[in-house]
Amino acid sequence: MAKLAINVDHVATLRQARGGTEPDPVAAAAIAELAGADGIIVHLREDRRHIQDRDLKLLRHTVKTRLNMEMAATDEMVAIALSLKPEVCTLVPEKRQELTTEGGLDVRMNLQVIEKAVARLQEAGIAVSLFIDPDPDQIKASNKIGADYVEIHTGSFAEAKDWKTEEQELIKIENSIKLASKLGMGVNAGHGLNYANIKKVAALGGIEEFNIGHSIISRAVFTGLDRAVRDMVDLIKYA
Ligand code: PXP
Repeated sequence: MAKLAINVDHVATLRQARGGTEPDPVAAAAIAELAGADGIIVHLREDRRHIQDRDLKLLRHTVKTRLNMEMAATDEMVAIALSLKPEVCTLVPEKRQELTTEGGLDVRMNLQVIEKAVARLQEAGIAVSLFIDPDPDQIKASNKIGADYVEIHTGSFAEAKDWKTEEQELIKIENSIKLASKLGMGVNAGHGLNYANIKKVAALGGIEEFNIGHSIISRAVFTGLDRAVRDMVDLIKYA
């Protein structure tokens, strides 16, 4: 069965709205783990708009499953990762003005910078995942520079406006899973996945871990986080 890792950035977004101390993403991570999450993800952005260095340091001590640090492939972020040693680092593109991560990494066009970051992290025993669009050229480039995992960007599938586009995007995801697996990389997937669309992607098989944030934290406002995590775990289990 595919695993579920929860992105708790949005809990930090709410805290930062008031600049205070609550809600605490560290507490959210503990509740998510108790409800069955297999991992916790945080994106330490260059502008620190949600997750703070303090959160990541505390999570390193408290997370009992796997800590996945999403980050840009910059010297600053690599240095932080090397000091905290999360189990996984997911390299993502980062633009200051974006509301959320908008597209996959262009591994082909930034081969040397990404390859250097991957090597430095792996030398420290950290597994590296590259967040990429479901594009065969990006998958081959990721394999060429030795990535342990690719995380397939499911945003275009999730945002498809009609069933035909959705179907086409799903086929791209399916082909990407097959290619990445054939090349020997682990396959994760995420972005825009929710309680309505998860089943179609989970039913494809071959995905090791789903990385989900917004839909679960949104539902948690109404149902509580424990229930929101359990409901998603069930959907993945029975897909
Ligand atoms: N995976 C990556 C690499 C992301 O950047 C994000 C968004 O922070 C997610 C997964 C989770 O996306 P969502 O919040 O839409 O579930």
